[in-house]
Amino acid sequence: MAKKGSADTGTAVEATTESAVTHHEVSPGTAVVTSDRVENPGFPPHRARVTELDPKKEASAQRRVVYWFLASMVGTIIAITAYIVMPFDYEGDPGSVRWSTLLVGFGLALALLGIGFGAVHWAKSLMDGHDLVEQRHSTRGSEETRAKAVEIMRQGNEESGFSRRKVIRNTLIGALALWPLGGVVMFRDLAGRTDPVSLLKQTLWDEGVLLTRDPDGAPIRASDVTIGSVFHVIPDGLYDTHHPLEEKAKAVVLLMRLRPEELQVSEGREDWNYDGIVAYSKICTHVGCPVALYEQHTHHLLCPCHQSQFDITREAAVIFGPAKRPLPQLPITVNSEGYLVARSDFTEPVGPSFWERSL
Ligand code: FES
Repeated sequence: MAKKGSADTGTAVEATTESAVTHHEVSPGTAVVTSDRVENPGFPPHRARVTELDPKKEASAQRRVVYWFLASMVGTIIAITAYIVMPFDYEGDPGSVRWSTLLVGFGLALALLGIGFGAVHWAKSLMDGHDLVEQRHSTRGSEETRAKAVEIMRQGNEESGFSRRKVIRNTLIGALALWPLGGVVMFRDLAGRTDPVSLLKQTLWDEGVLLTRDPDGAPIRASDVTIGSVFHVIPDGLYDTHHPLEEKAKAVVLLMRLRPEELQVSEGREDWNYDGIVAYSKICTHVGCPVALYEQHTHHLLCPCHQSQFDITREAAVIFGPAKRPLPQLPITVNSEGYLVARSDFTEPVGPSFWERSL
């Protein structure tokens, strides 16, 4: 069958190439100019596959295809079962989210890959192999076809009264225009009832909130923060909130101590550091990665995502990279027991510069 296809189509291609090639006159002295004639190589001879030659190999290939499709069925059942029997329990057991997501993802992946691998294996090992050529042709319909199409449209218009019955037509257009609004309203509801902008402008930090170590929540004494050290910090009480991960994503802070004389402090921020101890949002102002690499000697913070660098001696000013504004500073002081506490929340939104538009 394959040989028959090759012979027919090979002839067609050769004929086409012959007609397409033009022979140019070559004038004396321009011998390097060729007629650019390319011989049509045709199709290579058909090579039979092992499944065409050996019935046992064919049966074996068929079994493999069936196994892939069965694996796909199993994957679908795993995904559905995991979704039903392992509901998320965000507050009681955060681990349930991980297991449910893992199994649902595994099941869906297996279901899709099973179909894909099975279909490809089927096509490559069992389906007949033809070499085919399809000649290009104009996609424009003939004049007759085009006239017929116009006639059908005109007749449809007349029979339906679409142009004649203007009230019906206009109300239909109105209904079609309004119909997507239902979806828009429902999608809007996915954002939750709280204004997302105000939600992201506020963090757990407030006057008197203890700065505690991430992740154990131990309060930090100012005397524990030695020059050159860096602490990853979360607000006290973070784990008592309903959504600790979401709150942490906004409130996480880096704490460093420099010599007070190394800090360039702008007006109004004189009491935002405590004896050279400064706290800055850990959320990069580019697109929100955690800025976690502190270079002790240069006092630079580096974001590993796109290499933005912030100079801590200059209130986290951007000195390199795509970030557009400094990391927000958390005003801090100490309480009567010598523990570091916040003076207030951040005075500007944390995270990507995108939020500047709501300032
Ligand atoms: Fe930090 Fe891009 S997220 S540089």
